[in-house]
Amino acid sequence: MAEHFFDAADSELSHAHGWDLIFGDRFGRGLLNLDDEPHRAARRALMAVLNRKATAEYASVAGEILDRVVPALPVDEPVDLHAFTKKVTFEVAAAVFAGLSASEASELLGLFTTLQAPDLELGTPGGDRLIRDIARSRRRVRALLLTAVDRAHAVEDSRSYGVARLVARLRTLPGPPTDEEIAGHITILLLAGFETTAYLSARLLWLLARHPAEQSAVRRDLAASEPGDSQLLEAAFSETARLHPPLFWLPRRAETDLIFGDTLLPAGTEVFYSIADTQRDPASFADPDEFRPQRFTSTDTTRGRFAMTPFSAGRRLCAGIHVGTMETKLIAATVLHHFSLHAPPGPHIGDTSPNGTSITPSEPLLVRLQEVMR
Ligand code: HEM
Repeated sequence: MAEHFFDAADSELSHAHGWDLIFGDRFGRGLLNLDDEPHRAARRALMAVLNRKATAEYASVAGEILDRVVPALPVDEPVDLHAFTKKVTFEVAAAVFAGLSASEASELLGLFTTLQAPDLELGTPGGDRLIRDIARSRRRVRALLLTAVDRAHAVEDSRSYGVARLVARLRTLPGPPTDEEIAGHITILLLAGFETTAYLSARLLWLLARHPAEQSAVRRDLAASEPGDSQLLEAAFSETARLHPPLFWLPRRAETDLIFGDTLLPAGTEVFYSIADTQRDPASFADPDEFRPQRFTSTDTTRGRFAMTPFSAGRRLCAGIHVGTMETKLIAATVLHHFSLHAPPGPHIGDTSPNGTSITPSEPLLVRLQEVMR
């Protein structure tokens, strides 16, 4: 069943129509919500700015931002992990993929938040105000991103990095795309990139705060390893992505009549694949609700191919897997280098999705930080 889902052609299970059910047309079109040849061509172009080599360049941008903001975190008072990681991951993504300054990034984040607001009833004062806010935000997002595209056009050297290389690559697409379409690609990169990474890094730090023994072990391993090489951080990352995949489910629409197992899905059926449920299947993971990073340090290879799919699988595997992994681990490593994290024991904090796309912990993930003594 999972194999059929991940191997299906776009003409069988459409990504674009699946994501349209969620996004509507508020954010334009990019890799995530394109199908068939336009998707293949855009993916070829974009992978040049999302591969391992490009990711290594972004690590230094992310490192500079983190070295500025992490040591400034307050000690001995509550820190909301998700609020912190949202701000920082958006600043990194906006710098790398749109060449925006910290203050432009902060404005754009506010505008995106308005655009992701849930639908409100027309004719109510709140609903009418929101419609006006959405229209205003769309105009301002468009202006900011078209300025970013303009600045990138002005960079002559197509081997240059980040947004300039991105725009140069997109210009090689058949067409070639208009500035508006390029802005759509940038928007999808920002959206697909920042919320996922923000959520995953907040959950990782939160789980380590709730598991002090694992936290100390990861900190010791980080100190003893080359940068980016800690096996224990890698294991804690995988275990967090298993328990808390930033995309709970993948939306698709059946384009033709399809048979899944013994179920007929008539053309037009909305299909949702649940990553979250699959990754807590006791048939694949013993005590599936427990945080046990050590399950990823063993050489157990008995799990099926689709038991773990936090970044999806197959030809539409997350295009930003290297960037998202690097950034999540770098955030965790930088915070753990400066601070030990403490969270009171308490009931599990679940998630909500106010708008069907972004996932937010249902309560703030609050920790207290103490400086690490060296
Ligand atoms: C750690 C964080 C991340 C996770 C867990 C994650 C997860 C995913 C998943 C599950 C998909 C498949 C969506 C679908 O098939 O419907 C996806 C697609 C995608 N992701 Fe990520 N993502 C992460 C970070 C990023 C980053 C940092 C970027 C960009 C810089 C990015 C860009 C994309 C794009 C463009 C797609 C669409 C790929 C395509 O359809 O060809 N992601 N991601």
